[in-house]
Amino acid sequence: MTRWPTLIENPVEAHGARSISVLDQTLLPAHAQMRVLSTLDEVAEAICTMRVRGAPLIGVTAAYGVALALEADASDASLHHALTVLAATRPTAVNLHWALARMARVLAKSALVRRRLAAWEEARLIKDADCAANLAIGQHGAPLLRAASRRHGGPIPLQIMTHCNAGRLATADHGTALAPIYALHAQGVPVHVWVSETRPRNQGWLTAWELAEAGVAHTLIADNAAGLLLQQGRVDAVIVGADRIAANGDVANKVGTYLKALAARAAGVPFYVAAPRSTVDAACAHGAAIPIEVRSSAELGAPGALMTPVHNPAFDITPASLIDALITECGVCQPGDLAQSIEPV
Ligand code: MRU
Repeated sequence: MTRWPTLIENPVEAHGARSISVLDQTLLPAHAQMRVLSTLDEVAEAICTMRVRGAPLIGVTAAYGVALALEADASDASLHHALTVLAATRPTAVNLHWALARMARVLAKSALVRRRLAAWEEARLIKDADCAANLAIGQHGAPLLRAASRRHGGPIPLQIMTHCNAGRLATADHGTALAPIYALHAQGVPVHVWVSETRPRNQGWLTAWELAEAGVAHTLIADNAAGLLLQQGRVDAVIVGADRIAANGDVANKVGTYLKALAARAAGVPFYVAAPRSTVDAACAHGAAIPIEVRSSAELGAPGALMTPVHNPAFDITPASLIDALITECGVCQPGDLAQSIEPV
């Protein structure tokens, strides 16, 4: 069975043209299809329309967008233009801005003749570092999830709930919130995942698609069913990803995350957030300072006859007080100890 990568560099063509291919996530789960991107504008379009999505993958793709822009023109003006265009694609996931800042820093030091090559090298490093960080998150998070089991020694699998897609499709590989689940599965620990649909864009379908690919038992639920399952004691732990983590440990993630955190706290179920350090925004003091993306009303698919105003915020803020632990590639920490616990990346 083909394991579709989220982003690959294509071989350089005979006349020297370069491109990348991304898995077009707007077509999943019905069709798996790679889409070739060879210009800055194609990369920006892919991020805006969520052909590529998920905070870490947005950052990686944007880095390659800079490299593609410099292929056409390696000047300072072209670099500045690429950084500006890409920074405007999506506002909440800080990994985008982190990756662009890193590209800008490296390329500013690079002589003009070397700049094109340096951009590809740095984009590749960002991609590889994301893979490595996510594998480490898996190793740190797996024992935490296992310890949450209320069914010690029983035949019933560990019951984990997640929201949105924070799996391999949202990253260069391995995922963030799903990385510990994949690690447990690889260790032979029976695990079952409750996957919430994640209206309106249904990223839960992406989670179901990749869990099926990996052979991990899972069940899709409507978003509004999560509270009931938590209340019924059918969930051992909730784990989600993040789009931006403020300095005080507040977390921005897909809209609906906050409600799950509230329901988990009410039910006494641990709530974990897994993210690489590139998701931490030390310059953002608290969650209220995180910009929340508001997307098109068309995403709600309200019947045409319904002339009703629509508000479609794509993310929400879960306060640090509702989060039992943050898992990064550095290990596990309390949200309140974030600043002392991890070195900035
Ligand atoms: O709008 P999306 O699909 O890009 O939102 C994705 C999420 O909210 C994920 O949970 C988050 O980016 C973490 S991905 C490892």
